[in-house]
Parts: sequence; C-alpha cells; structure tokens
Amino acid sequence: MKVERDLHMSRGDGETSYATNSRLQEKSILKTRPVLHNAVAAAHASLSPTAGTMVVADLGCSSGPNTFLVVSEVLAAIVADQREELQDCHVQFFLNDLPGNDFNLVFQSLELFKKVATAEKGEGLPPYYVAGLPGSFYARLFPDRSVHLFHSSYCLMWRSKVPEDISRGIARNEGNIYIWEATPPSVVKLYRKQFEEDFSLFLRLRHSELVSGGQMVLTFLGRKNNDVLRGQVSYMWGLLAQALQSLVEQGRVEKQKLDSFNLPFYAPSVNEVKEVIRRSALFDINHIDLFESNWDPHDNLDGNLVLDSARSGVNVAKCIRAVVEPLIMHHFDDHVLDDLFEMFAQNVAKHLQKVKGKYPVIVLCLKARRAPKYPTN
Ligand SMILES: C[S@@+](CC[C@H](N)C(=O)[O-])C[C@H]1O[C@@H](n2cnc3c(N)ncnc32)[C@H](O)[C@@H]1O
Repeated sequence: MKVERDLHMSRGDGETSYATNSRLQEKSILKTRPVLHNAVAAAHASLSPTAGTMVVADLGCSSGPNTFLVVSEVLAAIVADQREELQDCHVQFFLNDLPGNDFNLVFQSLELFKKVATAEKGEGLPPYYVAGLPGSFYARLFPDRSVHLFHSSYCLMWRSKVPEDISRGIARNEGNIYIWEATPPSVVKLYRKQFEEDFSLFLRLRHSELVSGGQMVLTFLGRKNNDVLRGQVSYMWGLLAQALQSLVEQGRVEKQKLDSFNLPFYAPSVNEVKEVIRRSALFDINHIDLFESNWDPHDNLDGNLVLDSARSGVNVAKCIRAVVEPLIMHHFDDHVLDDLFEMFAQNVAKHLQKVKGKYPVIVLCLKARRAPKYPTN
C-alpha cells in the first residue's frame, strides 16, 4: 500500500461517497468551533502590521460539505470579531489533501458556496480567495513563515505509511487490520513509533511554515485509556477485521490477503500527543481536550442508550465505508465490498447491544514559538 496514492475518501457525491457520509466529522467541526474561533483571533494578532492578508490552510480537507464548513467557520469568526483592523484583512485559504482527493468536486462547489456565504453573511464578509493544494502534510507545503493558521480535522490519526516491518511481514499482525486484542506487543510498538515519527515531523514542518505566534487547531481520533489494545477505535476496526475473517472462512478472501492488510493509522492517547509536543519544543499548548462522539453519526443522544442497534450498525458501516472503501478496493476485490460492509454493520449492531460505541476525539490548539529550541532527548 502506498498511502499517498491509495488513501482518499470515496469520491463524488453519490450514496456511498464521503460527501454524503461525513456527518460524524461535521459534528466534530461544529463541536470544536469555539477553539477555532479563538485561534482565528489569535492568528490575526500574529499578522505583521504591514501584512493585510491572513493565510489559512485546512490540511486534509477532503471533499463535500465539511470542506467549506471550515472556510465558513473561519469567515464567521472574522465577521463576529468586532475589531476594526480584522475587518480590513483579506483571507487566503489553501485546501490541502492527498492528490487522490476529489478536488474536482471541491472546485465545482466553490461558486455555490460563495453565493450562499454572501447571502447568509452579506457585506460583512472579508475578501477571501480559495486555492487547492495537493500534497502530503508529511512534507513541506508552504514557504517559510507564510501561514497564520493551520486547521486539520479527522486527519492526523492517518500515518504516512504502514510501519515498514509490518508491511514487509517481518512483524505479523495475523487476522487484524489494526491494533486489537491479539496484536503482539512488537506490532504495537511499531505503530506507536510510526505515530511519534510522523507527528514530530508534522510539527517541525508546520513550525517552519507558520509565522511566529501562528496557530494550529488539530482535531483527530485518539484513545481515552492508556491500554492500546482496548481503545474504542481499535474495537471498531476489530469488528471490520472480524467481517474480513468471515469472508476468509467462506473462501472468498485469501487468508494471506487479510494478513497483509494493515491500516496506516494510530489513535494516540492525550499523554502520547503531549509528549511529542513537549519533546519538539516548538509549540505552546493553548488548549487540549478529549471529547467523545457516538459511533453512529446520527445518534445525538448523550449517555449509554442505543435506541436501534440495527439502524446504528448500518449508519456506522456507511460512515466507515466512505473512509476506507478506496483502501480496501486497492487490496481486496471490489466484489466483496457490499457483503463486507453488510457483515460489518451486523457486527457493529451486535456490539452496540452490549455497549454504546464512542470515539475519543482529541482537539488541540497550538501556538508556534518564536525560535526553535532543540529537543533535549
Ligand atoms: C476523514 S477525512 C476528514 C476530511 C475533513 N477534514 C472532514 O473533517 O470532513 C481525512 C482526510 O485526511 C486526508 N489525509 C490523510 N493523510 C493525509 C496526508 N498525509 N496529507 C494530506 N491529507 C491527508 C485524507 O485523504 C482525507 O481526505
């Protein structure tokens, strides 16, 4: 698997597309709105007196309504801010994602977005410009000190690659597609190391690109407990692995195919995230928090009650399919997809009868320090 080539959300705006099935991520953008609004104000304060343009980049923008929801929220934060100098500022947005992202859909939706934004927010909108930026956020994307605000939602749990010893079969994670109960400690260690390398690289790259005092708002799936083997996200992937195992038992997928499929993914704990930031010595943490989001994007109930586990199973399967279908299609035959996600929906429904599934989501706001201090260890 090559992440830069194979990882993208389901394209278009049809029934199984990401655009149609991204309610879970939309809820998270809405929930973290106050953090983003504060960061917009702080990012504006980092503009030099002569710079009239605030540069904002959304990393892993994908395609669909959420892509423009972020743009809309940044504009809303500026409109809501009463300070006069903010009203004069122009905003340059860069929408970044991997090259396989459906940028066509994004570009086609831009005019409609602009019309709706003008109708809703009227003359108060600052002048703004939107550009697409294909490329991995695990590489440089911008010139030195040119960005005031980075935003990224539901992306940083994706790794730059499957750890090499796992993809080469040196460390085996038989029957699993991510860390789960039977995953050997050696595999867990490799995944954790990949997270630490990726995240510290990400921090170094973004720090070079941010102006001094520039802000980053990052929201991604994490882990509530320190036990890596029993994270809530692990459980969800475990239920998908179980559906693949059923296909192996039916002779429709080769066992070797399943054993060689591992997700480029890691859901860290808050402590793991803090530790990488501390070691980088590049950012101050303005805000860090973990909240939970129901597995079923359409379940808005707090608490542990699941009203209709079968319905929720289907909703969870649609959401996850829109995210991983392209990766699965690349590795397995596409004719197993419908049955795979039907079985997954049933597995989720059974699980939800016992316990309500919730994703831990980490949200943080970082401020770039002026001069890099070199890591002490
Ligand atoms: C679940 S989607 C989230 C999309 C959008 N931010 C939202 O909240 O709806 C994750 C996105 O991250 C992108 N992504 C993952 N790894 C990336 C990388 N290394 N560089 C750029 N984008 C990446 C994926 O292609 C995908 O579009």
